[in-house]
Amino acid sequence: MATLQINGQTLDIGTIDPSTPLLWVLRDTLGLVGTKYGCGIAQCGACTVHLNGAPVRSCQIPVGNLTNEAITTIEGLAAADGSLTKVQAAWVAEDVPQCGYCQAGQIMSATALLQRNPNPTDADIDAAMSGNLCRCATYTRIKRAIKVAAGQQPATAFYNAAAVNGERA
Ligand code: FES
Ligand code: FES
Repeated sequence: MATLQINGQTLDIGTIDPSTPLLWVLRDTLGLVGTKYGCGIAQCGACTVHLNGAPVRSCQIPVGNLTNEAITTIEGLAAADGSLTKVQAAWVAEDVPQCGYCQAGQIMSATALLQRNPNPTDADIDAAMSGNLCRCATYTRIKRAIKVAAGQQPATAFYNAAAVNGERA
């Protein structure tokens, strides 16, 4: 029997081929499907999770290489009472997602960035996020949300205004 440390819990993953990518174990064994499969070859960032706080591509990590590393997935960011992190709240306020498929990976990379650099420059943001692709091209909103989460600019008003008016902008 093997276990992984995921989102603060020790989870049993049973008997599994140690070469199985972590992404497969998260999604197929543990049902943590917030982490997405995009390319499978470390090119898109959709599968990004944190390994001891650093963003990694879970499609590239054989589960047999993991022992006691702390793994965090998108499901592990919000508090137990459901309250969102600053990054998640900024994503909502800025209405970032379009189709949404890439967004868990984007949020994991952005969260890791702000944990190691709470006041990033544009160049810092570009460097940290360059490995996360978005086919819907939400890049402008992603950058804005990171700046909102960092406290560098206020949230855009249109989301709340739209809610008040009963419609989405
Ligand atoms: S699925 Fe892992 S980087 Fe694309
Ligand atoms: S929101 Fe559709 S791929 Fe990024």
